[in-house]
Amino acid sequence: MNEEIKKQIAQLKKERDAVILAHYYVDGEVQEIADFVGDSYFLAKKATEIPSRVIIFCGVSFMGESAKILNPEKTVVMADEFADCPMAHMIDADTIRETREAHPDAAVVCYVNSTAEIKAHSDVCVTSSNALKIVKNLPNKEIFFIPDNNLGRYVAKQLPEKEFIFHDGFCHVHKSIHREEVLKAKEAKPQALVLAHPECTGDVLEIADFVGSTSQIIAYATSSENKEFIICTEMGIFYELHLKNPEKKFYSVGHRQFCPNMKRIKLEGVLHALESLSPEVELDEDMRLKAKEPLQKMLELAQ
Ligand code: 13P
Ligand code: SF4
Repeated sequence: MNEEIKKQIAQLKKERDAVILAHYYVDGEVQEIADFVGDSYFLAKKATEIPSRVIIFCGVSFMGESAKILNPEKTVVMADEFADCPMAHMIDADTIRETREAHPDAAVVCYVNSTAEIKAHSDVCVTSSNALKIVKNLPNKEIFFIPDNNLGRYVAKQLPEKEFIFHDGFCHVHKSIHREEVLKAKEAKPQALVLAHPECTGDVLEIADFVGSTSQIIAYATSSENKEFIICTEMGIFYELHLKNPEKKFYSVGHRQFCPNMKRIKLEGVLHALESLSPEVELDEDMRLKAKEPLQKMLELAQ
């Protein structure tokens, strides 16, 4: 049955002049049929480089929105209409306005896990792979980091010369990875290195051997001489880790490393998106133009 769907997807992709982009957290069988798989920075950048008329996005809504913000002339279609990142909704525009009033010199640094509306009120976007580099190079001393508290604190720890205002957003998946569980996993596999995503809480990051975005975790594990790793991020990443490193061992920390929104995306949804070219990402043009500035700035500063 899956083989039949995969065939139909391949056929329709050609007919529609479509390209399929997928995040590392979606199911392996969806990553398998994608043209490009990557972290959120790679996917945003890739969307600006592909000539195809249609982008089918296998990820959560902020990722599809970023693709549309940067490529208004393309048809961007979500493989699942309701796959959404809760963190993206943990801050509102009023909070940004109020903070700007109280701290007029602060740069509003917006993690891409945010809505287009929030991006439109921000100065620069960042992803987990470039946040440190971008914030470090901003001329502003004061930084209002939204919405992820954990990523903000991780960046702040390494930039003592800056003054941070944090927000209280978080990822429920990474928050559910507890330090005690990581220590237990380490006790069971003392030779394994701990690789963590910066959305994890500070007490987990403290005991990690490496902290990075999904792509950076995969690159680290692949180039490492070590053979065993404890992975502190969403389970979908195991697909690429095993694909690139069939001889290495990867351990999870607990059963909660599972993003229910990313897991909504199925082959059937990809096929439906290709057939119907819906649900399409549509944005108010004024908001899109405003949201484009901080995203574009990120692409420039991350070079
Ligand atoms: P990456 O930028 O590492 O792909 O992370 C995106 C994300 O949603 C993490 O939870
Ligand atoms: Fe959002 Fe967390 Fe899922 Fe990433 S893993 S999409 S931050 S809920």
